[in-house]
This record gives sequence, structure tokens and C-alpha cells, in this order.
Amino acid sequence: MTIAQISDLHLGRSPYPGVDAQANLQKVLEDVSGQGVDLIVVSGDLVQDENDEGAYVAARERLDACGPPYRVMPGNHDDCVLLSRIFELAPHSTGEVYSHEPRDGADLIFLDSSRAVFSPAQWDWLVKRVRASHAPYVFIHHPPVPAGVPLMDRDWPFLEDAEFRSRLLSMKMTISVFCGHYHTEKTVQGENLDMFLCPAVNLQFDGTGDELQIGSLRPGWRKIDIDGERLATSVRYVER
Ligand SMILES: [Fe+2]
Ligand SMILES: [Fe+2]
Repeated sequence: MTIAQISDLHLGRSPYPGVDAQANLQKVLEDVSGQGVDLIVVSGDLVQDENDEGAYVAARERLDACGPPYRVMPGNHDDCVLLSRIFELAPHSTGEVYSHEPRDGADLIFLDSSRAVFSPAQWDWLVKRVRASHAPYVFIHHPPVPAGVPLMDRDWPFLEDAEFRSRLLSMKMTISVFCGHYHTEKTVQGENLDMFLCPAVNLQFDGTGDELQIGSLRPGWRKIDIDGERLATSVRYVER
């Protein structure tokens, strides 16, 4: 099974200067279509601004036209109510949008970190899901633990990293986690955790210094090949 992870589209009314988010998404989806992808996972920050229904509609139109099935997940820029309405998702009673999908021998787990924390219900559900799985592949907008990107780890972190460590990484299995949010590609491997950060469709950040800088304007995405418990992944960039 080949998955295309695309992340951080930031479509909307207030683009970053010099960035055409719609054109970037189109270029990335064109590249994705040529790669024999079975599923597209959109890991959050579809839009830039609040209350921008039109941006969600535009995202849906482009994803529908691309061809492969796709799943969307919320990021911190997203509005779960609007996202759910436009993409016909069913939020849980907490308002969160998380789900699980067995596919080709793998357990795909899609989380909702849009509030930078999980509700107790999502935590309990996640622990149960991972415990019941032989090959859990977790998709979450935020890196759930610090990723060695100093500025992002300091200013824009997932706020329950200690809980993630104590509840998930204490299990005797390696968990593969695919995230976005940091607008940079990176692989972080630690005990019981392989964490892969996806480059953004919108633009890449350089979060290594004290001030957030633009690293690159090239849109990117992550290709993920899963064969049961075997995983291979790489990133691809496209010309603007
Ligand atoms: Fe983002
Ligand atoms: Fe984000």
C-alpha cells in the first residue's frame, strides 16, 4: 500500500507573501497522481483563516478531482465543525475528529490534535487502539513529542507529550507516527518511536534559530510504502 501524506495546505484569504497555496496544492496533487498512490492522507491545516468555508470547498474540489481516496484530519488552523461539514465527517461527542481504518494488514489511526491536547475520551480510545494493533501507523498533525526543532518545540508544541510518552511509548512495540505542523521534513527515531515529519504543501519553515524563518518555498509531500510491518518512506518536492 502506498500512501501520500500531504500537510499544511493553508488555503485561504491571507496567503503568505509570495505563496500561491492553491497552485502549490495542484502541483503536489499532480505529482501524487503519477506515483501510484492508494490513499491520500491530509494531515491538517487545510486552511489559513477562521470561518473560511470557501477554502475547505476548494480543498475538497481539488482532492475529489485527484482520483485516489483520501482522508482529512484537522490541524490547529482548522475548524472541526466546518471541516466535518464540508468533508462529511462525523465528529465524536467531544467535537474531535479521530478514526481508525484497517487497510492491507496495517492499522491506520487518524488523530485530532487541533487543540494541541486530546480529550480524555480520545486518549482512552488511542491507547486501546494501539494496544490492539500489531502494526499501528499513527497520523497526527502535531509531532506528539519534541522533534529537535527548537523554535517549533518551544512555541507550537503538542502540550501532552509527557502523557504520550507514558501512555504510548511504554508499550513494548514500535509506533510509527506521521505528522505535519512543523513545515519541515525530519525523521526522529527513539525508543519505541519512529516519527516522520512531513514537509508542507504551503512553504517550509526553518525552526532551528530563535526566530521563525522561511526555509524554502518549494512544496513537498511524503510518500509512505507500507507492507504489513515493513515501512519505507521518502519525501518529494515539486517545482512551484
Ligand atoms: Fe501549518
Ligand atoms: Fe499546524
